[in-house]
Amino acid sequence: MKLKAIEDVDVSGKVVLVRCDFNVPINEEGEISDISRIERHAPTITTLANKGAKVALLSHFGRPAGKVDEDLSIAFISERLTEVFKAPEIVIIPDCIGDIAKQVLTDMTDGQIALLENVRFYEGEENNDSDFSKSLADIADIYVNDAFSVCHRKHASVHGITKYLPSYAGLALKFEIEMLENVLKNSEPPMMAIIGGSKVSTKLRLLENLVEKMKFLAIGGGMANTFLAAQGKNIGSSFYEKNMIGEAKSILEKAKSINCDIILPIDAVVADKLEFGVESFTVDLKDIIKKNMILDVGEKTVELISNAIINSKTLLWNGPLGVFEIPPFDQATSSCALTTAMMTRAGGLVSVAGGGDTVAALNNAGASGGFSYVSVAGGAFLEWLEGKTLPGIVVLTD
Ligand code: 3PG
Repeated sequence: MKLKAIEDVDVSGKVVLVRCDFNVPINEEGEISDISRIERHAPTITTLANKGAKVALLSHFGRPAGKVDEDLSIAFISERLTEVFKAPEIVIIPDCIGDIAKQVLTDMTDGQIALLENVRFYEGEENNDSDFSKSLADIADIYVNDAFSVCHRKHASVHGITKYLPSYAGLALKFEIEMLENVLKNSEPPMMAIIGGSKVSTKLRLLENLVEKMKFLAIGGGMANTFLAAQGKNIGSSFYEKNMIGEAKSILEKAKSINCDIILPIDAVVADKLEFGVESFTVDLKDIIKKNMILDVGEKTVELISNAIINSKTLLWNGPLGVFEIPPFDQATSSCALTTAMMTRAGGLVSVAGGGDTVAALNNAGASGGFSYVSVAGGAFLEWLEGKTLPGIVVLTD
């Protein structure tokens, strides 16, 4: 697959619309808790600005469902963009289409950078509407997609717009695909996957797929509760998906029949509620009482997972094992992440992680730098792992 690259294009004096992913995680105080997604765009943005382009940054933020929602305005992010892109200022444009936006962009000096408003304020975005795609194209001369993490979305700013503008892949998008392809091409068995997060329903196809390819499949986070419930185990008052019990059972059966070792929690860190400073205990599953909620996997489970990591040559990781945002429920994720980083650094393991939460959890552990590759993409990473063709990539190939 050959992507059309922006590197050799003359962008001087042109308005270049760059599709970024500034859908960053926000903490309880409303602050950005991880800037990895912003940092990934720095090479593309600074290169375009240095080459004299008028750079228009376009992104979604959250899911406003086609309506203006002031709480999901993207303008607040401009301060961080100024720091990360080392720009003297970022011009804030309160719309992403229309004559005013077009005029502001045209009037900018070469090398200036502007931030457009949340593209999902328009319903034409998610519908991949052709009029809306044309309106987006109308404010620029060139389109660049720099966000692998949105390439699974057949939306106007990812797909439709490419019909109306010369379109290219940005450096971050190209790098991400090259890294993922290289890392997995060079991967060797035994392979292991660590899958966490809250719901089986959002990762069902991935789990079915992984069972067929992996020697070890460790399941943590809220989704592990559904599997434990499917085995008739005690999960106290923990969250689980009752309607996914059947699916969980069939994944367990399939794994057994093809010799994939599914690693589920055998102990857990529990508390009676989820909040900072709450009293918590590590207990075996059989000792969980009715009011306990499982908020992380326990030490014995960490040992099982770590042994599997040590006995694997390739590791894929998506989703935290516990509620890592609230210590001490980050312990298991951090411990397994550090083991992974150590094994990778020692040369015994190829490790690839992906997902917004996953990146934040690995950063929290100080372990991301030790992985072979960490993708900032969530859904796109999962669909890519499932072997799906991503609509945002197809339109950028020769
Ligand atoms: C993500 O967070 O994975 C991307 O920003 C895509 O967001 P979405 O799932 O709302 O399309």
